[in-house]
This record gives sequence, C-alpha cells and structure tokens, in this order.
Amino acid sequence: MTDPAPEAARPYMAALADELTKAGVVRSPGWAEAFATVPRHVFVPKWYEQETNDKGITVWRRRQAGATEDDLAAVYRDTTLVTALDPDTAQRVDESAWTGIPTSSSTLPSLMAGMLEELSVEDGHRVLEVGTGTGYNAALLCARLGDRAVHSVDIDPELVRTAERRLSKIGYAPQLASADGQTGYPGGGPFDRIIATCSVPSIPQAWIEQTKSGSVIHTDIALGIEGGLVRLTTDKDHQARGMFTRTTGRFMAARTDARVYPHPNHAPAAPEAGKRPTPVTAADIRTHYPFRLLLAFHLPGAKLVYHRDDAGALSLQLQQSDGSWARAPLAGQDVGVVTYGGPLDLWQQVEAAWTWWNDTSRPTQDRFEYVREPDGRASVCHTTDGRRWDLAPTA
Ligand SMILES: C[S@@+](CC[C@H](N)C(=O)[O-])C[C@H]1O[C@@H](n2cnc3c(N)ncnc32)[C@H](O)[C@@H]1O
Repeated sequence: MTDPAPEAARPYMAALADELTKAGVVRSPGWAEAFATVPRHVFVPKWYEQETNDKGITVWRRRQAGATEDDLAAVYRDTTLVTALDPDTAQRVDESAWTGIPTSSSTLPSLMAGMLEELSVEDGHRVLEVGTGTGYNAALLCARLGDRAVHSVDIDPELVRTAERRLSKIGYAPQLASADGQTGYPGGGPFDRIIATCSVPSIPQAWIEQTKSGSVIHTDIALGIEGGLVRLTTDKDHQARGMFTRTTGRFMAARTDARVYPHPNHAPAAPEAGKRPTPVTAADIRTHYPFRLLLAFHLPGAKLVYHRDDAGALSLQLQQSDGSWARAPLAGQDVGVVTYGGPLDLWQQVEAAWTWWNDTSRPTQDRFEYVREPDGRASVCHTTDGRRWDLAPTA
C-alpha cells in the first residue's frame, strides 16, 4: 500500500471515534462524528516512533501510514505521533532512524478530544487554533463548525503550507496563517474560542484583545517546574479566569522563531553545601502531578530536571537561575536525603508545599483557579481555602 484509499481507513476512523466515546472523553455526537469523519492518516502520512536501537541508543524510527495495514492501523491508535524533528539536533543513525528533539506532533487523540469537548463550541462560533501542526485538529474543528469558522496559525510556514494542502484534499479551506500565535491571528478576531496546542508561559495580551466577553481560552500554561491545561473565560473588563482542568496534558513550548528551538538552559550550579534527611522524596514529586504543579506556584522560575551522577545514579534536581539547587535520588539507600547548594534553600520550599498539600487533603489541579488581570498580572488561587500565589511576570 502507498496511498491508502479512504474506504480502507474508514473502519479505523469509526473505531477511534468509538474508543474515545466509550472512554467518556468524547461526550457529544458532534465530536464523535468529527472523529469518525476526518481521516488522520491524510494529516499524518509519516511519523517517528521512539525505539531503542541495537546499540542501546534511543532513536526516532520513521513509519509510513501507507506502508502496511499495520501502519495504517497505528495512525488510528490513541497515541501522540511525532511528525518533525529539530534539524539542528536531528542526526541520521541508519536509513530510517534519527536522534533529535521533536518539534511538531499530532497530539494524542484523547487529549485533543478532551480539550475540544471542554471548549464547549456552539454552531456559529469563530475559533482560533494556535499550533496548526499537521492540520488534523483544524480539520476536526472544520468538521464540527464548518471551515469558514476556523482559523489556525503556526509559527512554521512549511507546516502551514503542508496542512493547507492536506485540508484541501478532504475539502476544507479554513483561514490559515504562518505567524507567532502569541500575537493572535493576523488581522484579528474577535473569536468566541481560542484553543492552543502549544504551551505559553502566560496568556498573551493579543488573545485578550482578540476575544470578547464570554469567550473561552483553552491552553497549556507552562510555569517552569510544571504546567497544565487551563480553561479561562474572558469578561467585559478583559479579565480571564478559570480552573486548571481535570484533563491533564502538556504541549511543546511556543517558540518565537520557526527555526530556533528552545533548548534547556542550565545555570552553572553552586558548589555542594550539605546533605540532610527530608520527608519528601523524589518519588513523591514524580508521582503526584498536582503536587508538582503546586511546586511551580511556590517556586516561580525554578526548573525540575533529571541529574545523573558520575556513578550513573539518577536524581530529581530543582534549580534556580542564581545557581541554587537541591536534589533527591530516585532510588538507593539515600532516598530520603536531600543534597543542596547555593544561596536559596529550595528543598525547604518543597517541604513547606508538601505539608500544605497534605494538610489540605491533597487537592487536585482542578481545585486551583488561574486569573489573568487586564494588565497581564496573573495569580493562582486555591478555591477551598483561598490561598493565593502571585505568578512571576513573564515575557
Ligand atoms: C503539538 S503541535 C500541534 C498539533 C496540531 N494541533 C495537530 O493537530 O497536528 C504544536 C505546534 O505548535 C507550533 N508552534 C510552536 N510555537 C508556536 C507559536 N509561537 N505560534 C504558533 N504555533 C507554534 C509548532 O510548530 C507545532 O506545529
């Protein structure tokens, strides 16, 4: 098989719609029909699958939807499919495999379905999608709302051109543009809904200007240590507020240049200052997503990374731009011991957050409200006890 016929894919499309409905992620007939109607393989004719090759190196192996029946079925599984690798980091290791950092993907269908349902679209709504990528999500929006209502923007002009071609192949011609979606859609709104499939560090001013009172903005907010999906409603005074959603999922960060990909930037670490026992382990942080999110409120600007020591032992390390760091091992006899350095006692903040989180019955992310003020300041509030964290201003 090279270019699968539409009939060949139809049973897989129907099965995916069915699977998402049975899982309770798709809850309305409109979205069930959209998933059963839009052929994902047209938007993802090839993708990269992660595997460890015979030399023990983790590589991205290219697969093609038309190669075999199995490959066609794979496109309709509920998985994220990586579709582009950063050309600066991608290195070919054999005829069909590369190493490198992913820069575009077709999002996990269940995550997309969850976000689309939470967007609560109605007939007649004008929608902006930020992060066109393959165009699959834009096609789902076209299927649900009609292509005249749909606008989609991606920073990468090549992706936009390809998405446009694929959308037109199945009869859709939404408004597409290549631009930094953090500046909204060229030419402006107003939009009833904005959905972003890349993360932003804060809600851009342009999104507020291109929505109206009662519009919904659904995006991933990246807050350093962790981030999450928020569903915000705008009001007539240009305030946007709403909860972190029950649906969890993270997206690649919005970049400001199509050819420049954000690479982790590690501040030089201060010398080791000591070790001490701690009640909070690396596993506690790794296991509990809501706790990591809480840590992001507590420690604005901090990053959470994996650290491997000379003997190969893996730790979770918190670090700040002033060189402060604190790390706890993921395994071994020193679990329960924190090692640290630098001017700030980062782990003391971790312990304070852990105590509060446990004392307040371990609230999940959907107990926290994100508020963006008209002047751009943002805060998070715990809805049960009213505790508030001001978030650091971001660019
Ligand atoms: C996870 S992919 C989007 C998936 C897409 N919605 C789909 O259905 O295939 C994230 C996309 O965001 C795009 N992106 C990154 N920074 C951006 C920005 N500042 N403005 C618009 N798009 C951006 C990337 O080029 C990438 O295509």
